[in-house]
Amino acid sequence: MNVYLGIDIGTTGIKALAVDSGGRVAGSFSAPLTLLSPHPAWAEQDPNAWWEGVLLILRSIPKDMQVTRIGLSGQMHTLVPLDKNGNVLRNAILWCDQRTSAECDYATSELGGEKNVIAMTGNLIYPGFTMPKILWIKNNEPKIYESIATCLIAKDYIAYRLTGEFGSDHSDASGSAMYDVVNRKWNEELLKKLGIDKSFLPPIQNSHETRGYLKKELCDELSWGKVEVAAGGADNAVSALGVGLCESGDCMISIGTSGTVLGVPGKGEARADDTGKLHFFNHAAQGLSYYMGVMLSAAASLNWFKGKIGKELSWDEVERGIGNTPIGANGLLWLPYLQGERTPHRNPNARGVLFGLSSMSDETQMLRAVMEGVTYGLRDSFELLKARVPEIKRVLVVGGGAKNKVWRQMLSDNIKNTVVVPETDEGGAYGAAMLAALGGGLSEADVKSWVHYASETKPDENNYADYDAMYEQFKLLYKDLTARFDAVAKRAKLSVR
Ligand code: XUL
Repeated sequence: MNVYLGIDIGTTGIKALAVDSGGRVAGSFSAPLTLLSPHPAWAEQDPNAWWEGVLLILRSIPKDMQVTRIGLSGQMHTLVPLDKNGNVLRNAILWCDQRTSAECDYATSELGGEKNVIAMTGNLIYPGFTMPKILWIKNNEPKIYESIATCLIAKDYIAYRLTGEFGSDHSDASGSAMYDVVNRKWNEELLKKLGIDKSFLPPIQNSHETRGYLKKELCDELSWGKVEVAAGGADNAVSALGVGLCESGDCMISIGTSGTVLGVPGKGEARADDTGKLHFFNHAAQGLSYYMGVMLSAAASLNWFKGKIGKELSWDEVERGIGNTPIGANGLLWLPYLQGERTPHRNPNARGVLFGLSSMSDETQMLRAVMEGVTYGLRDSFELLKARVPEIKRVLVVGGGAKNKVWRQMLSDNIKNTVVVPETDEGGAYGAAMLAALGGGLSEADVKSWVHYASETKPDENNYADYDAMYEQFKLLYKDLTARFDAVAKRAKLSVR
């Protein structure tokens, strides 16, 4: 059986799907990954561990499946520095790493301030983005910096190991802080001003285009014929493609480790968010762009909290308990900033806060408060998105959190919109298989017909007033604590700015 293979390099694991030409999933494969945090607020991974995971997956594909083309998706922004022989020089620095505040400030000032940065790249420079990580290596690991010959983003490193070719694509280049989203090219003026060698950066392709051919030794080992590898794209863009998010007015909310709120503007309306709060990136679907708000600890908040408090409860009990607790969690509020926050606060020193505890508070109330706090964080981004994409036509909800009925209702009541769950919600891997198919003979209409929708959750107007009131308090609580986050982080010598 001929299949397209989509591979997603995630943060907690690698996922791959073998998909037939009708969009049916014929095989699902995964390999876990570990996150390294050698210092508070740092997040690293060994790119060789990604490669070992990919090899494990390739070797476990049943012999009756003939992979015809491979598509890729991966964590955005994550930097992999290579030497002139293509060897990894140090661990990859991840999208959720917060060490580069000083480099972000330096680059912003060298480039003439935030307004100019937005004009040059379409975005502000965030600590998680790729470029400030290169500057951080220059400032802190000069020996490694001297040896850098190529800088790749996560999935581009895997494409390199599969094919031997260097490259990137427009969706991942968008989050590098070195790329001009409007003019779709590396920004040479920016590179020059920051002293970054242009030769570090590979050529950029469209996501469905061919990067190269799977190396002969791998094809021989796997007994596969000639296999093309597509350039692939940024996980958020590729996931969005995978659930059919390709029309202006489409919105996707993902409740995964990170939480994202992504919306597609009309072609004539696409321009950078002048406040810089929303990212403005090119899509993996050719010719489109999107806005995106990112919260760093979405489902990660709930998983963390359940791991610490409520360890004894099964997920079913958590869901039931949360469903039986009234809106407002008996006066508890959660600020979901375990890793600092990107949208809307751009504050690496922000931290998680559980506010309003009393002697009556119990695990389920706390867990409900955490779920509500994450929802308010997503609502923050949704409010910003509505200002850029006034006509939101439909909202898809994906990720682990979307499987929870209570959470879907909570989200729908907060954004006052129906939310729709796609039938196949497999993150970037399904969209990556689509990219493989798109360059492998299928048309856009063919792959669009792969997507089906499973269920809808309609907002309940009776809940609006209670959520609105708590959301207001959520926003005020962050405002009241802003100065405290910085002061306490400095006092504890944990400040990252
Ligand atoms: C997006 C972002 C995250 C990662 C997760 O800007 O940083 O959503 O892409 O892999």
